Amino acid sequence: MESKDKTISGFSKLSKTGKIKWIVKTFFKEPDTVMSELMSYWHSNEEQQKILDNFSENTISNFPMPFGVAPNFVIDGHPYCVPMVIEESSVVAAASSAAKFWMTRGGFKTEVLATKKLGQVHFKWSGDTYKLNYHFESIKKKLLEEAFPLTESMVKRGGGIMDIELIDLTDQEPHLYQLLASFETCDSMGANFINTCLEQFGQSLTHFFKESDQFAKEEEEVEIVMSILSNYTPECLVRAWVECPVSELGEFPNGMTGESFAEKFKLAVRIAEIDPYRATTHNKGIYNGVDSVVIATGNDFRAIEACGHTYAAKDGTYSSLSHCEIKDGQFKFWLDLPLAIGTVGGLTSLHPIAKRSLELLDDPDANKLMRIIAATGLAQNFSALRSLITTGIQKGHMKMHLQNILNQLKANQSEQLAAIEHFSEEIVSFSAVKSFLEKIRLG
Ligand code: MEV
Repeated sequence: MESKDKTISGFSKLSKTGKIKWIVKTFFKEPDTVMSELMSYWHSNEEQQKILDNFSENTISNFPMPFGVAPNFVIDGHPYCVPMVIEESSVVAAASSAAKFWMTRGGFKTEVLATKKLGQVHFKWSGDTYKLNYHFESIKKKLLEEAFPLTESMVKRGGGIMDIELIDLTDQEPHLYQLLASFETCDSMGANFINTCLEQFGQSLTHFFKESDQFAKEEEEVEIVMSILSNYTPECLVRAWVECPVSELGEFPNGMTGESFAEKFKLAVRIAEIDPYRATTHNKGIYNGVDSVVIATGNDFRAIEACGHTYAAKDGTYSSLSHCEIKDGQFKFWLDLPLAIGTVGGLTSLHPIAKRSLELLDDPDANKLMRIIAATGLAQNFSALRSLITTGIQKGHMKMHLQNILNQLKANQSEQLAAIEHFSEEIVSFSAVKSFLEKIRLG
């Protein structure tokens, strides 16, 4: 097929069925089969499907992901069953197992350290920097006054614009400045609120220079480059930790004592603190837990990951987000996580399952959800490190992997039991499982 036959104009105007028809006939060898497969994932309830369709453009079907739960989380003394959306095997099992481990050792403790969100208006201005600084207080007053109608309802909820600073970037790029604004957005993630305020600041700034007698020169006209929130929110931060006497850690596989475990665990965390290669994988494990709750509760996992990785590099080298210490016989493991999330507005109230996730968590406010997410990330990290420094990670992974292969090869219940027994001592691979099944199927 010519490549021009694989392009189309007016695709977005086609009906959903029209879109699927064009796609299956253009890109698939078995169009009818693919068409009915895609349509089989449509929601049986038309209204529900419409809600999903409206989240994004050119929707042709739904992409199912497992919705799991990790019970037995005790966070700040309260029990939670944490909803997790993730496709990777072992993640939910690992979170559940860490939750159970810490349930009898004081549970997870958390503290929200700050909830400041940020946005920027980037602009160019060719006038005198000293003059701009000198007049900035009047500029700021005008910006706040003109944005007031937009902020009224947020202010009533206890939030709003906290401050606006002028940042001079002219030493790095001629004539470049920035308004750096900070916001409190209460229980909403606040992206729309922040971006609306920022665009208003941009307009007010332009008017200020046009209208003010003090700035009449040509070079004193401002050029707004862009106005957008920053996903880097180092001061929207939550800490989660677990701690107990080393003597209460118990015993670990292969007869490892609590003491050796604690020392080896601390060293594993230290490696992630000093080596960016290990830190990336270590933090990825944390985000296995974080993202799955973030997705389950209808929040933006790209924003949260982007922020976390920048935070992990804040001291100049990419490093671990979690830390460990052993002091006076006490083992302590903690995680500092920047987390800009919401529990009202956006997908949190539109997505039918996200709403259920929040209900499962007793409809938390944003503050509480920050704590739950951080605890889940820490639990995930604890489980991953516990496996890595004791049995190795593959043992648990392979168990789930074996199950997936058995399902794929349509093994019946007795074949499954035989395979599980056989592979408790053997290395799992698709071909090994396939030939094992072939052998027992031959009798
Ligand atoms: C796998 O998804 C995550 C781990 O690699 C994390 C880690 O190594 O700490 C197990």
